[in-house]
Amino acid sequence: MKHPGMTNKVYNIPNDIFEWSEDNFKRVSKIIQKYPTSRQQSAVIPLLDLAQRQNSGWLSKTSIEKVAETLSMSYIRVLEVATFYSMFILEPIGENFVQICRTTPCWLRGSDKLVKVAREISNAKLGETSKDKKFTVVEVECLGACCNAPMVQINDDYYEDLDESTFKKILTDLKNNKSISKGSQIGRQASHHERGKDA
Ligand code: FES
Repeated sequence: MKHPGMTNKVYNIPNDIFEWSEDNFKRVSKIIQKYPTSRQQSAVIPLLDLAQRQNSGWLSKTSIEKVAETLSMSYIRVLEVATFYSMFILEPIGENFVQICRTTPCWLRGSDKLVKVAREISNAKLGETSKDKKFTVVEVECLGACCNAPMVQINDDYYEDLDESTFKKILTDLKNNKSISKGSQIGRQASHHERGKDA
């Protein structure tokens, strides 16, 4: 399965221009100031993250070039970082980047069924973006919330204690631009027992 954060290819849009937005330009200065004068290139990861957020969730060639220019680094050094971490997405994705955990605890608790639901609602293959550009769905390994399995990450947030019906509702609501509730879908507090912390 294709994962848009696990590729070495950079997606180049002809005549694309990336400039920091006014707000992000201010954020860039604040981020860089956190590092000692001779170590400011250490800001490469937060700046790539900022560029990705500004660029609809993925890094174009021009956005990587802008980070390199901002930090006086060579393009190839910034590209090395962007291609190393799967959190940096190197091709256009849908509005909702859905990462379904398929490692053993989530798998035993039904992650296969969640994949089926996601494919049905998005009407796209794993790793591909839906025609309406609403979803890109991928399978990933453990996201560290095993005690609330099965779970998925959508953009920055975790959705836990899912089943086919709750997951279907989440994706349908996203498709219809409705608000959805994050975290455990059965009301579990953090990683307490599902009957409460004293159970
Ligand atoms: S196995 Fe799914 S979060 Fe760990």
